[in-house]
Amino acid sequence: MNDLRLFSDTDALAQGAAAFIAQQASGQRRFSIALSGGSTPRALYHVLASPPFATHINWSQFHLFWGDERCVPPDHPDSNYRMAAETLISHVALPPENIHRMFGERPPHEGASAYAAELRAFFGGLPHFDLVLLGMGDDGHTASLFPHTPALHETTRWVVPNEAPVAPYGRLTLTAPVINAASTVLFLISGRTKAARLHEVLDGASDPQRLPAQMIHPVSGHIIWMVDAPAAQLLNPSP
Ligand code: 6PG
Repeated sequence: MNDLRLFSDTDALAQGAAAFIAQQASGQRRFSIALSGGSTPRALYHVLASPPFATHINWSQFHLFWGDERCVPPDHPDSNYRMAAETLISHVALPPENIHRMFGERPPHEGASAYAAELRAFFGGLPHFDLVLLGMGDDGHTASLFPHTPALHETTRWVVPNEAPVAPYGRLTLTAPVINAASTVLFLISGRTKAARLHEVLDGASDPQRLPAQMIHPVSGHIIWMVDAPAAQLLNPSP
């Protein structure tokens, strides 16, 4: 049974996700979160960067990582880091040393190796994120795990280059084993364009090569699907 939490619209979804993240981080000495890119989390990052969260959250305990990145410089309009910097990082008291961005500007294999080294330095071994934030594309991809791509078959490396079907084509992504080692995976899904695919992912047959979001099953952690009404409109009614 999925932990499915429904919200009326994108703003309510962002508020609910912010409250959840603040509650999860509360009291933690160190809270490691892997951010997602794309457009859906923009509203969440804006809420986190605004009162009350901007001042009530102890940002010095947060360590920001990324679930994936485009192979572009950090100041490029398509950079997931740049989006988070503009909407969140530049508005809260995050120590610079707590920001662990993927190096999209480096040759992809070098960037992937460098990020794996960063993860090993922080976690001391297999990364166990406190929370991994994920979105889902209209095609059922998550992070930069795109349908029928080599990254889906990776079982040992933590970070790999991958090719996206849309520009920017070069990506870096956490692999499924790393995401599934998290304590909490939080999917944020908004908009009616996601409805048909979300119905397939949650209600349909298992087909993870075609629907990579189905690869996400935390080994011992918890997966939560926060979905707004337009994206949830085709889901089977909960039993
Ligand atoms: C990225 C994201 C990607 C995103 C989905 C959904 O780098 O684009 O990590 O996995 O979460 O494509 O994107 P939207 O939120 O824009 O629909």
